[in-house]
Amino acid sequence: MFLHGTSRQNERGHLEIGGVDVLSLAERYGTPLYVYDVALIRERARKFQKAFKEAGLKAQVAYASKAFSSVAMIQLAEQEGLSLDVVSGGELFTAIKAGFPAERIHFHGNNKSPEELAMALEHQIGCIVLDNFHEIAITEDLCKRSGQTVDVLLRITPGVEAHTHDYITTGQEDSKFGFDLHNGQVEQAIEQVLRSSAFKLLGVHCHIGSQIFDTAGFVLAADKIFEKLAEWRETYSFIPEVLNLGGGFGIRYTKDDEPLAADVYVEKIIEAVKANAEHFGFDIPEIWIEPGRSLVGDAGTTLYTIGSQKEVPGIRKYVAIDGGMSDNIRPALYEAKYEAAVANRMNDACHDTASIAGKCCESGDMLIWDLEIPEVRDGDVLAVFCTGAYGYSMANNYNRIPRPAVVFVEDGEAQLVIQRETYEDIVKLDLPLKSKVKQ
Ligand SMILES: Cc1ncc(COP(=O)(O)O)c(C=O)c1O
Repeated sequence: MFLHGTSRQNERGHLEIGGVDVLSLAERYGTPLYVYDVALIRERARKFQKAFKEAGLKAQVAYASKAFSSVAMIQLAEQEGLSLDVVSGGELFTAIKAGFPAERIHFHGNNKSPEELAMALEHQIGCIVLDNFHEIAITEDLCKRSGQTVDVLLRITPGVEAHTHDYITTGQEDSKFGFDLHNGQVEQAIEQVLRSSAFKLLGVHCHIGSQIFDTAGFVLAADKIFEKLAEWRETYSFIPEVLNLGGGFGIRYTKDDEPLAADVYVEKIIEAVKANAEHFGFDIPEIWIEPGRSLVGDAGTTLYTIGSQKEVPGIRKYVAIDGGMSDNIRPALYEAKYEAAVANRMNDACHDTASIAGKCCESGDMLIWDLEIPEVRDGDVLAVFCTGAYGYSMANNYNRIPRPAVVFVEDGEAQLVIQRETYEDIVKLDLPLKSKVKQ
């Protein structure tokens, strides 16, 4: 069984993370429970940044907080010297509440509202990543009214789409995000932005996909962007200060996943940017990247208590847990695969095969199909690995199930960082019916 970060099997045959026996966590905080291995998050953050430092380059590694946003998580990102990518007023608010330095916040999104943009300007965040013409107009108007000039990047769709081992190049990308690099839209956007005193155009941004195991897509995106940058230097005398190549670096969810190490992605990106800068005669721009999953994904483990079991003779055995698509919607949403272990019986041989069912009223609420595990009993604790990214952040209250608590573990200490929702929380925004029954 592959154990990530500080996870290990202790002398009692229990799973331990960050020096803490997870059984004690389940007992103290209840289940389902998200447990984050803080040392692993720190290690990744340092690895991404070290590769840039070693190359002697100016860079920003921005944590894509959509992967998991909470006050404590943002404070951890700040401790590690990361920048921050937010995509909504809620993520921005969380960052501000956490005391994250506004100048290191970058604001993304394909439909930022006037209120969200005003909030970003009010807090004087580091950079707005302009995604579309609507947003250029709103931001320009807001800046004019407040007399501000804001640093911006233009989000472009470079016509490179990467996913796991494959990448495809498309002439015109069919995407809801950004300005197309090939149909003249991006030039129209650049002209508007360069003309306006509301903006200081730092450079361009692209994000080519997720769970990427290869570097070819990043290299190709850099090649395509530099070709355009050379054109824009001629046409607009525009020289980029920043090139943001997004996130999407893969992690190991299961034995079929073979990601590269964090520093390898960075080294290849640096190589591609340097080679292009040299080829086209540019100074090397500041490189920004935006890892989300690869900072927190494999640092997260969800603990569940096993409840009912159902044997369908000759077909399969279902083992139900006390959570499911309400705390991890990824398997139902896009057939994401996970590995898991019985945390209180790590030494037991896996003689059984069972499919792990969630408790939501939805046949599709299955977390793992055909998992090899020991024979489980009511009350055993199942640990599902690699749930740190897009788990809590996509959690929901389907079936009015309260969202679980989140605990950080490090050096033998556990800290509750998000409390478990209560039933009172579930109804706290509800208002009673006012109308009377008509006779
Ligand atoms: C613009 C942008 N940056 C960064 C990320 C983070 O991606 P990942 O979590 O795969 O690293 C995303 C994910 O959707 C994104 O859209």
